[in-house]
Amino acid sequence: MPKVVISSKGESQSVELRSGLRMIMAGMQAGLDQYGFGDCGGNLVCATCHVRVKSGTFPAMKLDEQYLLETLPVIYPDSRLACQLIVTEDCDVEWVG
Ligand code: FES
Repeated sequence: MPKVVISSKGESQSVELRSGLRMIMAGMQAGLDQYGFGDCGGNLVCATCHVRVKSGTFPAMKLDEQYLLETLPVIYPDSRLACQLIVTEDCDVEWVG
């Protein structure tokens, strides 16, 4: 199973996720939902699952993800929405919030 390292506010956690599941599940396993991560349950409405991808390969961003990211006050070249990322290999992301 791929290992996902997910960091937030200077702390990192490592969770294992079955290949093919979405990154939002890693955030939930790490308990980030108690801080508002993934509020819309992956329906591309909230952008609270905004992460920076430090390592790992993911399919190209689709337009609906791009449009939602562009509503945020700050985005980065490596910004993605965790609910749109399908995990198939070890990866490392930072939750921006
Ligand atoms: S969980 Fe709401 S957009 Fe990703």
